[in-house]
Amino acid sequence: MSTKEMQAKLIANMERWQQVEANAIKTTADIAAKVKNPIIKHVMEIIKRDSEMHALTQKMIVDTLKGTYTMTPDELADVWTEIEKHIETERQTIELAKEAKSYLKGAKMTVQEYLVEYLLADEEKHNALLDQLATIKKGMYPYGS
Ligand SMILES: [Fe+2]
Ligand SMILES: [Fe+2]
Repeated sequence: MSTKEMQAKLIANMERWQQVEANAIKTTADIAAKVKNPIIKHVMEIIKRDSEMHALTQKMIVDTLKGTYTMTPDELADVWTEIEKHIETERQTIELAKEAKSYLKGAKMTVQEYLVEYLLADEEKHNALLDQLATIKKGMYPYGS
């Protein structure tokens, strides 16, 4: 596949995906509006907000392919002191999430366990996002060539 073909396929994929995210945003909003239970409402709200960010990320991928946005190791280096402080904050969130999980072990508190698991997975996701950013900053590409 030529680079041009690959980029066209990737853009088409991102555009289809944005449509699917739009459906996800609508369905979760509808359920959140209808449901009375605050916990279920909250979970729908989480997915809705994530789906909004997913759609923006798909748009960003398209924009980078069109050359609208780029990111260089130097631009990351400029803001790295602040990002490093934030990495420390993320480390604290993971510590707290793991501690909370340890208290819930074997306690048969399904809802709390469910929500803490969600938080831990999300904090680990933030950590991974920043780890990969650090790799890009070093001028190394974590995803192969
Ligand atoms: Fe999504
Ligand atoms: Fe976080």
